[in-house]
Formats: sequence, structure tokens, C-alpha cells
Amino acid sequence: MMKHPRSLLTALALITIALPGYLMAHGDVTPQAVDTHELPQLGDEWLEENPYSPDDAKVLEIGSSAYTQNCARCHGLEGISGGIAPDLRMLEPGIDGDEWYVYRVREGAVRDGKVYMPAMADYLSQEALWAIRTWLVSIYVEE
Ligand code: HEC
Repeated sequence: MMKHPRSLLTALALITIALPGYLMAHGDVTPQAVDTHELPQLGDEWLEENPYSPDDAKVLEIGSSAYTQNCARCHGLEGISGGIAPDLRMLEPGIDGDEWYVYRVREGAVRDGKVYMPAMADYLSQEALWAIRTWLVSIYVEE
């Protein structure tokens, strides 16, 4: 409980001061290695369409764990967004969603010099990123 308006103002001031630092900190990535040697290997050229099957348990297992380690921090645990970044369960399944997904993970999201999302493909292999995409499609939620 904040009875005194002054403490409310102090709290607001603190948030205002802390927020930019928090957003900046978000741009820092500590990528977690993802072991993908058990997945079909895809080569260096980026594919446009998800090559993995949503029925492949190994793909889902690796995708889910890779997501938790590398994306959940911003996009939310279990793919459920807490509002910081879009809810990736709502990305369209199929090639349109695939193309958008590839674009974002390769380019990241950088505006006015601010990194909202780093280019995750700089840190994770194509195999790891398609496994994540496959897992996300398996928990697809209509918008
Ligand atoms: C540092 C925070 C952060 C991390 C880590 C991060 N993202 Fe993002 N991501 C964002 C933000 C913020 C956006 C929205 C970008 C915008 O507004 O342009 C976004 C957007 C996206 C989009 C586009 C979604 C849409 O609805 O348009 C995809 C796809 C995506 N991220 C995938 C991933 C994947 C996969 C990972 C992990 C490998 C990941 N992101 C890690 C912050 C992050």
C-alpha cells in the first residue's frame, strides 16, 4: 500500500530510470548451445519451408528445450507471451508463417539502433531454429 503520493512518484521515477536499462539488457543474448546432431541435417542454405514433421517426437523435444533456453526469456515460458514480445503460438502454420519466421530469426528486430530482438540465427543453427518452429506449430493457437 502506498499512502503517500510522494512514494508513488518515487516509484514511478524509479521505473522510468530503470526501464531503458531493462530494455537494453534484453538485447544481450547468452545463447545456449543446442545439440541437433540427432536431427536430419539441413546444410548451410536457409530453407524457405519447415522441413521437419510435427509428428517427429525428437524434433519437438529439441525444439521445446531450445525455445525454453533461447526464446522464453522474451517470448514467454511455454510460448505464452507475457506481453514483452509477440505470442509465437499464434504464428500461422504453413509456408507463409515459415517465411516470416525465417525472416525474423535471421534479421532480428532492430529499429533506431535499438535491438528488440537479436538475429537469433547468428547464435543458433538452422536445425535448432526449425525444431523450435515445429514445436511452436504443434502448440498453435488461433489469434
Ligand atoms: C531479447 C528478446 C528476444 C529474444 C531472446 C527473442 N525474441 Fe523474438 N521477438 C522479440 C521482440 C521484441 C519481437 C517483436 C519485434 C518487433 O516489434 O518488430 C520479436 C518477434 C519475433 C518474431 C515475429 C513474431 C510476429 O508475430 O511477428 C518471431 C518469429 C520471433 N521473434 C522468434 C524468436 C525465436 C524463435 C527466438 C528464439 C530462438 C526469439 N524470437 C528470441 C524479442 C525477442
